[in-house]
Order: sequence, then structure tokens, then C-alpha cells
Amino acid sequence: MLDINHIAKTFNPGTITEKKALVDADLHLQDGDFVTVIGGNGAGKSTMLNAVAGVFPVDRGNIVIDGEDVTDLSEHRRARLLGRVFQDPMTGTAAAMTIEENMALANRRGKHRSPFRWGITQKERSMFRDELARLGLGLENRMQAKVGLLSGGQRQALTLLMATLQKPQLLLLDEHTAALDPKTAAKVLHLTRELIQDHHLTAMMVTHNMKDALQYGNRIIMMHEGRVIVDVEPEMKASLRVENLLEMFEHTSGGKLDNDRMLLS
Ligand SMILES: Nc1ncnc2c1ncn2[C@@H]1O[C@H](COP(=O)(O)OP(=O)(O)OP(=O)(O)O)[C@@H](O)[C@H]1O
Ligand SMILES: [Mg+2]
Repeated sequence: MLDINHIAKTFNPGTITEKKALVDADLHLQDGDFVTVIGGNGAGKSTMLNAVAGVFPVDRGNIVIDGEDVTDLSEHRRARLLGRVFQDPMTGTAAAMTIEENMALANRRGKHRSPFRWGITQKERSMFRDELARLGLGLENRMQAKVGLLSGGQRQALTLLMATLQKPQLLLLDEHTAALDPKTAAKVLHLTRELIQDHHLTAMMVTHNMKDALQYGNRIIMMHEGRVIVDVEPEMKASLRVENLLEMFEHTSGGKLDNDRMLLS
């Protein structure tokens, strides 16, 4: 489903700020895999997701999504294959637009149709209402409300719904619950799992919460200095505990995990 074949990325090469963010990142996901990604600060987790999304060209290696080599495709051209949700609840939705307008944009993304030329049809509106109802946040009754009025958690739930509306080949989540309070984060994580299961999506989720990394998904990988250093297969993941994860990390990297947010959570 996803093949990340030995990719490398150095930012600002040849300058004083040169940074080897990815050295030799290699990862292969099966259809339906839901992999959680952990690692220290600056390990290359976001860079790997951004490389898959085509935010910048990679220096070496290639990326294949569902049999299609996307390495040379622009970010825009890859967007039809991907759903993405970031940490900041303010990104991903348009504050000045209503809930239903945001959903219409997400629903028509990549289709050659001007978003508002025909307004929102009754058929769309009823589909949006059903989708919003599954969030259990009452948003289906506020479809004409501006998104800027929603709480961070409500907005993140909506972003997730919008990112999966067109059933992307691959869902990329970069600490998408990190800015939420624990209770809201748990809600959004449950929703994440539900949407991934219902739509049979393949997903990568970066998290700094090791319990979440263990609780969610069928695989877990650890990154360190631009490489995937541990890749736990489904059979083994179910029986892992946080202590085991820390041991595996220290054993493979030869040092302690340095992620302040991770150790605080
Ligand atoms: N656009 C960029 N320009 C320059 N350096 C960058 C850029 N993006 C990332 N880096 C650097 O590359 C390294 C890897 O960053 P990345 O964001 O992938 O880490 P991360 O594993 O997501 O860490 P964190 O847990 O802090 O989010 C870091 O040293 C970072 O400063
Ligand atoms: Mg990051």
C-alpha cells in the first residue's frame, strides 16, 4: 500500500544550518495497516510524513502509494490520495466559513467542479448531517455555524471527518490530538479509530503519547536520527507495554528517548 524506499532529506545543505532530517528512512505498509509513530524530538517523524505528502522533494529514494510512484508528483497532485490532519486545530478548516461549506469543500476536493457555483445540494446536506452526527458533538444541528465558533476539539473532529470524507488511500496524522485536553483527545482518538475501520483506511499516526501509540493501531514504529529503528509487527504489538517500548528504543538507539512531551505524558 505504501512503500517508503530508503529516502533521505537534508535541509539547508552546505550551510551552517544543515540538518539531515531523514538519513535512510524505509517503511512498508500493508493495506489497512494503522501504524503509530514515536521517537525523540527531531527524529524525523514529521519530515517523513511531509515527504510522503510531497511538501518538498526528497534527495534520495522513492515513495510508492498503492502501486503509483509519487516521488516526482507535486504536493497538489498527491492530495487526491491523501488525508492529512496536523497538530494545530486552527489549520485544516476555514474559520470564516460555515460547517457545511467546509464539508462541501472537502467533498469536492479534486473534483472538477467549482465549490459554490450550484450551492450545496439537499443530497449533500443530508450526507453531511449523517456524517456529522457520528461525531456525537451535536454539530449536525449547527451546520450553518461558522467554524471559527467551534472549540479546538470540535474543530479537530471536523477536520478528521473532512480528511476522510473522500476515503483517501492514506491518512497522515501528525500529533493531531496533542493540542487538546486529555478527555477531548481521547474522544478524537476514538473517532480516528472508528473512521479508519469504517473506511478501511491505511494510516500513519505520529504521537508523543506512548500509551496511545500502544493502544491504537496494529503496528508501531520508532524513529531515531532520520531512520526507522524499530518496527513492531501486529502479532507482537498487542502484548507490548510502555516499559518494553522504552527498552527496545534504548537497546536499538544506544541511548535514552529524548522527547520531553513524551516523557511528560
Ligand atoms: N523545513 C525545514 N527546514 C529546516 N530544518 C527542518 C525543516 N523541517 C524539519 N527540520 C529539522 O529536521 C529535523 C527533524 O524534524 P522533524 O520535524 O521531522 O522532527 P520530529 O520527529 O517531527 O520531532 P518533534 O517530535 O519535535 O515534532 C529537526 O532537526 C528539524 O529542526
Ligand atoms: Mg513533529
